[in-house]
Amino acid sequence: MCFSAVFVILGILFCALCRCLECPFGCECFAVIRTVKCVSKDLLTAPENIPGYARTVIITGNNIHQIGPSSFTEPENITNIILSNNRLTEMASHTFSSLVNLRFLDLSGNQLALIHPEALSIPGSPLQELNLSQSLYNFTALTDLTTALRWGGLAGLLRLDLSGNKLALLPPGMFSHLPNLQQLFLTNNSLVAVYSGTFSGMNHLEVLDLTHNTFSTFRTDALLELDKLGDIRILLGNNPYTCSCEINEFVAWLNKSRAKVDVDAVRCASPGALTDARLRGLSIQDIGCVVPVLAEVADLTLQTSYVFLGLVLGLVGMVFLFVLYLNRKGMKKWINEMRDACRDVLEGYHYRYEIDSDPRLGHISADSRRAQRQSGISLSQQLPSDTSVAPTKTQVRQLTISPPVNL
Ligand SMILES: *[C@@H]1O[C@H](CO)[C@@H](O)[C@H](O)[C@H]1NC(C)=O
Ligand SMILES: *[C@@H]1O[C@H](CO)[C@@H](O)[C@H](O)[C@H]1NC(C)=O
Ligand SMILES: *[C@@H]1O[C@H](CO)[C@@H](O)[C@H](O)[C@H]1NC(C)=O
Ligand SMILES: *[C@@H]1O[C@H](CO)[C@@H](O)[C@H](O)[C@H]1NC(C)=O
Ligand SMILES: *[C@@H]1O[C@H](CO)[C@@H](O)[C@H](O)[C@H]1NC(C)=O
Repeated sequence: MCFSAVFVILGILFCALCRCLECPFGCECFAVIRTVKCVSKDLLTAPENIPGYARTVIITGNNIHQIGPSSFTEPENITNIILSNNRLTEMASHTFSSLVNLRFLDLSGNQLALIHPEALSIPGSPLQELNLSQSLYNFTALTDLTTALRWGGLAGLLRLDLSGNKLALLPPGMFSHLPNLQQLFLTNNSLVAVYSGTFSGMNHLEVLDLTHNTFSTFRTDALLELDKLGDIRILLGNNPYTCSCEINEFVAWLNKSRAKVDVDAVRCASPGALTDARLRGLSIQDIGCVVPVLAEVADLTLQTSYVFLGLVLGLVGMVFLFVLYLNRKGMKKWINEMRDACRDVLEGYHYRYEIDSDPRLGHISADSRRAQRQSGISLSQQLPSDTSVAPTKTQVRQLTISPPVNL
């Protein structure tokens, strides 16, 4: 009896010891539910020798700054790892490579500053859910993460949480290597705009959460990008929308969008008169588009009238030219007559002037008939030589009259 009691006690102690040895230092192990918990034990490194039966490993509230491939080695049965709030700053290459059945990875509440491009690579792409909520230290970490998402072979990822990371902008095509992603959480960041290409390559998205950011509106390219996602659920509430005329397009989009939008939470933050008003259903008058629209119309009218004036002037000019063309014979005749008349008048003056001013004419000797003849010839030679027209009556008269004057 005594012996058997001692054996039982020893047996129990031995089992307890085994149990203790089986479970890593600072952790609690629950074989039945296949779970290992290492919570708030100020661990400085990831626990070693996690029992082989473990499926879920919860390591939170510790001081583990760095994790790498040596952190998780043998236990290929692990499907869930929660590593939240461990002050993680660095994630090395192939950290989770040996966890070929890992489906759920929670890295939320850390300060990741250094993420190796292949930190998330696991053979066979088993990862389905990745929680990086409040886990990125700064913008450099986001760049690192973008590379890691590209190189990680995360074709199986269905759910990604990037909330609370103070993200101000998303690199274009950041999610293009996550072709099967169904749910993307970007809530509680500082995003101000969506650009063309921001969500490219996501053909299976079902939920996009953009609530609690700093969007004041969505412009044309952003709305086109959202349209490309199809009739999915898009959460846009709790953003500081500015309900001025510029938001016109967004309101029109909300009015008719195929996407399932949380329209009740999409409300104006300013101006004062519209604070908390639902955006959907606002009219262009409500958002103050009326005056600019009238100005535009006025501007258009002015432009139209200028064009009209130009056309009328052009038409008048053409009619004028046409009339000239039709009258070309009459015009020619008229021009010739005018020219002749002018020439007559001018020649009259010219003639008289020459007679009055030529000093030689005053000294013509009466007895030199030869000289007279020469003088007459010289006078006739002073007529314009290029005139093809026959001398007019006046010219002839002047010519015939001139010799007696010379005498
Ligand atoms: C993983 O689980 C299977 C069955 O669930 C078990 O047979 C195997 O021994 C486990 N692996 C380890 C390393 O314990
Ligand atoms: C990610 O982790 C945070 C903090 O632990 C939690 O609030 C959030 O719900 C998780 N995200 C998802 C998609 O489960
Ligand atoms: C982010 O933090 C890391 C580590 O402290 C630093 O080297 C890097 O310059 C920071 N990047 C930015 C954009 O502040
Ligand atoms: C939003 O994110 C900030 C850090 O960026 C965090 O301190 C805050 O608790 C988050 N808020 C919510 C409601 O998750
Ligand atoms: C949105 O729809 C409402 C009617 O539901 C309409 O009065 C309003 O003009 C529309 N707004 C825009 C910007 O199209």
